Amino acid sequence: MQETTVEWVVVSGKVAIISRESGECWFLDLDNYENSLPFSTPMTGKGSHGSTAGLLNGAIALGLGGDASVLQSCATSLPEYVIDLVGSYHNSSRTVGNYLKAARRFVAIDRADIASYLERHAREENGHERLALRDLGALNLPAERLVASLVPEGVAALCELFDRLSASGYPVGCIGYSYFFESSAAKRQKADVDALQALCPTGADATRFMRAHSSLGSEVDHIKEMIRFIAGLPASDRIEIAKAVYETAATVAKGSRHKSRKSDAAMWDQIRVAAGEEINLAV
Ligand SMILES: [Fe+2]
Ligand SMILES: [Fe+2]
Repeated sequence: MQETTVEWVVVSGKVAIISRESGECWFLDLDNYENSLPFSTPMTGKGSHGSTAGLLNGAIALGLGGDASVLQSCATSLPEYVIDLVGSYHNSSRTVGNYLKAARRFVAIDRADIASYLERHAREENGHERLALRDLGALNLPAERLVASLVPEGVAALCELFDRLSASGYPVGCIGYSYFFESSAAKRQKADVDALQALCPTGADATRFMRAHSSLGSEVDHIKEMIRFIAGLPASDRIEIAKAVYETAATVAKGSRHKSRKSDAAMWDQIRVAAGEEINLAV
């Protein structure tokens, strides 16, 4: 009989995410099984493309707490979109620095395979934060001033998590952090980008960042390459990466609960204060 690959990881100290080659995954609360299952012992076997993808996607689903709409959710009003762009700026402006810092650590501990992956990914992400600045500028907003004085709720916690994962003694978790965002971006369709563009004043080309971070850009290829790379890593690395994916998803879910409580008027106020001037959107 042909052997099938099963992968698992325990998050929150007690829930096992179990996946197999078909890409399916399950969640088991180990408290209900009193050590009668093998999943409380860390996995040690090899990964496969399907089971690793299942593990990482399971970590996203569990971290989001069943609210998968967060993954594709795009702003439904212009002020929300502006705040999202500011958040995207902060998040993407850390990628290159954090990846290169983690790469230096992996060089120092003789893991050239991970170091070169991170260096390549840092090159691919180089300058992406400028797309968000250009979008803000296309809306006639003072982009540099906005990002200098506004860090949206939820985004600060994400940036701290990314920095912490990237600066640890064994910073493989930073790959899990990026997996969450690459995977969400790859799910975004042309209709999602068009819906954002429709929120903007006519003629303002303000969706460059989203176009590059959607299925219209190179994210679908990035995610395939990322899964291939992670699947080939030792089990202990895949465990750390899946845990980081889970933590990132849980942090995103917490931030999005915050966001959904604000009215458009409150968001415009926040933008106006950060801009330090009256706002005259592009028309
Ligand atoms: Fe990017
Ligand atoms: Fe990417």
